[in-house]
Amino acid sequence: MISELKQHDRTLPRGSVPEAVATAMIFVARNVDLAGRWVNLAPAPLPVRVGLLWSATTELMQEFSGRTAVITGGASGIGLAMAKRFGAAGMQLMLGDIEAAPLATAAESLRADGVTVETFEFDVRELDQVHALHDATADRFGDVHLLCNNAGVAGGGAVAASDDLDMWKWTIDINLWGVIYGCKVFLEPMIAHGEPAHVVNTASMAGLVSGPRMGAYNVSKYGVVALSETLTREMAMDGTSVGVSVLCPAFVATGIAESDRNLPSELRPSMQPTAEEAGMRDMVKAVVAGGIDPSVVADAVFDAVEADRFWILTHDETHAFVTERADEIVSGANPSTDLGLI
Ligand SMILES: NC(=O)c1ccc[n+]([C@@H]2O[C@H](COP(=O)([O-])OP(=O)(O)OC[C@H]3O[C@@H](n4cnc5c(N)ncnc54)[C@H](O)[C@@H]3O)[C@@H](O)[C@H]2O)c1
Repeated sequence: MISELKQHDRTLPRGSVPEAVATAMIFVARNVDLAGRWVNLAPAPLPVRVGLLWSATTELMQEFSGRTAVITGGASGIGLAMAKRFGAAGMQLMLGDIEAAPLATAAESLRADGVTVETFEFDVRELDQVHALHDATADRFGDVHLLCNNAGVAGGGAVAASDDLDMWKWTIDINLWGVIYGCKVFLEPMIAHGEPAHVVNTASMAGLVSGPRMGAYNVSKYGVVALSETLTREMAMDGTSVGVSVLCPAFVATGIAESDRNLPSELRPSMQPTAEEAGMRDMVKAVVAGGIDPSVVADAVFDAVEADRFWILTHDETHAFVTERADEIVSGANPSTDLGLI
């Protein structure tokens, strides 16, 4: 264990908080026996004490009133529901979205409920526009305490088809790169201000189980889950005050099945659906329309942030798919083909 920690310690910047925490772990591993008894009475070196103190005083997000939330894809669906829930808790909001008219309508209805809200029209695929979203938020509200990387689209079909690469790229650029950019741009300042903060990344049940004919979506959402798991470990190891959650819903009654309303005009001609894709899309539309209300998801997100809970699964009936997949992995069974729509 000590050699593993030492290897990790060597990769950390000298004098950093992570280095202090790793040093503390090495120190504890060397000085505490398997029964948890202290076996070496030498005083701890200063970086160890600083590291231990830092991780011991980490405080996670409990206060919402007067704090600032940034929600991407905040103009509709799950993003708007989260805006209403966190706004009702007294947070001031920056809603970012590519759709100008729904953004304005969302802001108007939130303001009518007494919520302080600003909007920012942007494309989450563009790093400079994510920077601009950050800067506009900092100018208006100062520090960010809650970041919901939520903007997303449903797109991309069969893996073996070769004519829909643009659709795959568009989907992954928004669903995965949008979340990566959000983390890259917002996290350093959120860590640096030192107040309790939280990141919620919207993945999907499709980030835990891979249904057929939705490869690009699955890839993007598995990526969001992997990114979030990595991030939560890093935030804890580094002793930051930033909590992390990953949202993995099944069907929610939103506009996700009409995601192609946001297709850039230059991509439209190459993205006419085949008959099979059109049929699949109609089926998805019907299932999404019968999904749970976005407010139920928003309540679950609020509870998870308050409790600092990582996994947010909103549909109990999907738990069996996750355990079935885990069982297949450890037993060596091939993925079942009777998954259907999840
Ligand atoms: N609705 C579901 O059944 C469901 C299930 C699992 C996960 N999700 C995820 O929830 C998230 C929210 O989707 P929703 O269901 O509320 O759908 P929605 O279409 O109602 O909302 C998505 C929002 O993202 C915005 N958006 C799209 N492309 C953008 C871009 N390039 N830049 C900035 N904003 C952009 C849209 O304008 C829209 O307001 C998505 O990440 C989606 O994948 C939805």
